[in-house]
Amino acid sequence: MRMETEPLLHPAAAVDVEAWRLDFPILQETIRGKPLVYLDNGATTQKPQSVIDSEVHYYNHLNANVHRGVHDLSQRATDAYEAARTTVRRFMNAGDDAEIIFVRGTTEAINLVAQSYARPLLKAGDEILISSMEHHSNIVPWQMVCQQTGAVLKVIPISDAGELDMEAYADLLDSRTRLVAVTHLSNALGTIAPVEQMIALAHAAGVPVLLDGAQAISHLKVDVRALDCDFYAFSGHKIFGPTGIGVLYGKAELLNAMPPYQGGGDMIRAVTFEKTEYNELPYKFEAGTPNIVGAIALGAALDYVSAIGLDVIAAHEGDLLEYATDLMQAVPGLTIIGRAPRKASILSFTIAGIHPHDIGTILDHDGIAIRAGHHCAMPVMQRFGLAGTARASFALYNTRREIDVLVAGLHKVQEMFR
Ligand SMILES: Cc1ncc(COP(=O)(O)O)c(C=O)c1O
Repeated sequence: MRMETEPLLHPAAAVDVEAWRLDFPILQETIRGKPLVYLDNGATTQKPQSVIDSEVHYYNHLNANVHRGVHDLSQRATDAYEAARTTVRRFMNAGDDAEIIFVRGTTEAINLVAQSYARPLLKAGDEILISSMEHHSNIVPWQMVCQQTGAVLKVIPISDAGELDMEAYADLLDSRTRLVAVTHLSNALGTIAPVEQMIALAHAAGVPVLLDGAQAISHLKVDVRALDCDFYAFSGHKIFGPTGIGVLYGKAELLNAMPPYQGGGDMIRAVTFEKTEYNELPYKFEAGTPNIVGAIALGAALDYVSAIGLDVIAAHEGDLLEYATDLMQAVPGLTIIGRAPRKASILSFTIAGIHPHDIGTILDHDGIAIRAGHHCAMPVMQRFGLAGTARASFALYNTRREIDVLVAGLHKVQEMFR
């Protein structure tokens, strides 16, 4: 194992990564006496002190229910919750706070669109278009709505490098297509989808587009108005915020036309036993007491990212990806799965003759946390004829030194099975 005093294989350009690392208390943890090398950011990210503080501050100073109290504390909680919505709106460059719906995460956001947008619209024979590199949460909700309506799920193929086949996409997009739902950044391959081009083609055919931004949100600058996407979904926990909170962005004209997803408190204007008048956006889609503290802490997470700047983060992570790709290719038997020219922050790989779980378990003994398995994207694994891969995924606080530790660990794995 590489020691702290050893020289790096190649020093990186100067960024403030050591200062950023200090913002994340958990990075000081040791695993079996070894420093934690956390390379499972695609699954969930660690939290900076400012996010942790924001949760503590909420419970110490603001805790009350929102939108319903006449007392001052409830007003404080409501103000902080709505301020978080404004932070999200600015972060994504949406046009209006009403277009920002707080949900549990990407999964709930996509289910909401499937049930409230697609289900009332779909007829037998209509088509939903997804890609073959989707996470299960951008597959299963569409299968469910297809079963409910008789619509058909169509799948855009990918190349051996993990790039979307744009010719096939153009062919699949036809008069039966009612919605395109694709990942902005693949969690299994790291591919960045050509979403600008895809949205332009879909809109030319009169078809709206949902982007699954679960991975993209912490690595790429997302501007929903520049993209002109119709829906954008992401999870707070993948961008240094808490679990249990996420966002659905939707264009107001679409959201306004959609029925509520769930019924309950807060989403109503007036209720009698005969009928209910629904609330306006965004509350129409936020039935019940929301995850108030989660939304506020998500706001703190987005402030943290904005203070560093996504372009700075993307440049640092691009350097890590290039560095890791070069070094890992030298590990005997290692194959990188996903070689698209436009990639971010995710390195999926196999080592010949060694099960991904064994790779993950052996690395864990050296304090290195990676993911092993199908990454909730079984169809993309099937596309490559694999049961699973090992996956290292990077965040802003990772370093070249940590990649050296990973690569030393991989050589060790390889030698153990030789
Ligand atoms: C591309 C992608 N989409 C959707 C999800 C689901 O996110 P969540 O479980 O936070 O709802 C994930 C999570 O790994 C993901 O990587």
